[in-house]
Amino acid sequence: MTILRVKSVEQSIRDAEAPEFRLRRVLSAWDLLGIGIGAIIGTGIFVLTGVAAATDAGPAISISFVLSGIACGLAALCYAEFASVVPVAGSAYTFSYASLGEFFAWLIGWDLILEFVIGASTVSVGWSQYLVEALSSAGLALPEELTAAPGAGGVINLPALLIALVLTVVLVVGIKLSSAVTNVIVAIKVAVVLFFIIFGAFFINTANWSPFLPPHQPPEPGTSASPLEDPLINAIFGQTGSYGLSGLVAGAALVFFAYIGFDIVASGAEETRRPQRDMPIGILGSLAVCSVLYVLVSLVMTGIVKYTDLNTAAPMATAFQAIGAPWAVGLVSLGAIAGLTTVILILMLGQARVAFAMSRDGLLPTWFAKVHPKYRTPYRVTLCTGVVVALIASLTPIDVLAEMTNIGTLFAFVLVSAGVLVLRRTRPDLPRAFRVPGVPVVPALAVLACLYLMLNLEGWTWIRFAVWMLFGLVVYFLYSKKNSRLARAESGESTGEQ
Ligand code: ALA
Repeated sequence: MTILRVKSVEQSIRDAEAPEFRLRRVLSAWDLLGIGIGAIIGTGIFVLTGVAAATDAGPAISISFVLSGIACGLAALCYAEFASVVPVAGSAYTFSYASLGEFFAWLIGWDLILEFVIGASTVSVGWSQYLVEALSSAGLALPEELTAAPGAGGVINLPALLIALVLTVVLVVGIKLSSAVTNVIVAIKVAVVLFFIIFGAFFINTANWSPFLPPHQPPEPGTSASPLEDPLINAIFGQTGSYGLSGLVAGAALVFFAYIGFDIVASGAEETRRPQRDMPIGILGSLAVCSVLYVLVSLVMTGIVKYTDLNTAAPMATAFQAIGAPWAVGLVSLGAIAGLTTVILILMLGQARVAFAMSRDGLLPTWFAKVHPKYRTPYRVTLCTGVVVALIASLTPIDVLAEMTNIGTLFAFVLVSAGVLVLRRTRPDLPRAFRVPGVPVVPALAVLACLYLMLNLEGWTWIRFAVWMLFGLVVYFLYSKKNSRLARAESGESTGEQ
């Protein structure tokens, strides 16, 4: 069937080597680790930990982090195998084109656009909120009209707009510059997180950990929230309310956001010097480091402050305020601003790479895929991404944006994990620098774990996701199916290849 045509792995590698589309191979394993940690530690740990502890799991949010980390670890193993087989730009999109066929590749590419664009917009808004807080604590209050979106009490969120545009310029100028900037900021960010853990540990009051997992609480009588505001699985089984085991898993589905980013390491494969060796190190290494940090941060945070008091915009700062250390509040806030900067940068980088790969394949207009003659970066797609992120971030409230990111990413993980199984069967001959252990059990568990987390996201999130994906189907059948390079090759049209 045409829509299941597969772009061969060899073809993917050949396309990436055509001079007009070639990116520079400059990244080392350390760069990848930096990109991974730079993308991973962000709004999830700096903001969502507090919300999730206060509303879903209490101190057991540390266990939610473990659950979510396990799901990511399983998917990360699959990502690492795929990335080591198909070392070209585009991440899960490219991998699925080589295994599941064009239609699934389109679905996943479209889905990744959602993850990266909305994710980058979400973090830009978070960045703006931290900036506003840091400035106001230094006595410089900015007017709300210019620092919040229309739905959030303002007119336009200018700091969010500006940070997205500035980082776009960094990306256009070149990946080496952006990874150098990233490495410095990542070091600051990790130092701040370690500081929070070590300094904060002295102020833990173990009484705050009791109860560790608060018992399930039904919704307050008289509150008639729509079932669409509950995790889908709870709405289906009629089990609403907070805490308890269902809260533990709902917390895991929420803090999953904190792990998003390790998959982006895979999208740098085409710019990596030795992708076969360095990709698995970058992906699995960054995930492992972050998991340990997250569990420790959440234990320390809920140990310093009662979980019910953590539903704030900056829970790490809240914890240090509680122990009366204003200098530590400032330090953590600066670290958060730096940390969020790299997350935006890398999400936009990932988006540009996926859209670049899709347009190189003709699924989006090839106009986007042109590489800058001097900087060798896909500047057109990068500029378009930056402008869209800046507009969305400046005009949309953070909660509307945040909900969408997790579902898109989890769906991508499901397809990648299934793709590993398919590729093992259809192309057992391909060299794999990294092989997932325990096939088919591990990829199958990855699929199930990610689906389960998806079911723990809100009904509204599912509806929005379905609308976005349906829109994607329309674009695919009206444009991409006819214009893809594979389609044109099949019909004998020149694809520009020699
Ligand atoms: N994992 C990234 C964050 O937490 C997306 O901000």
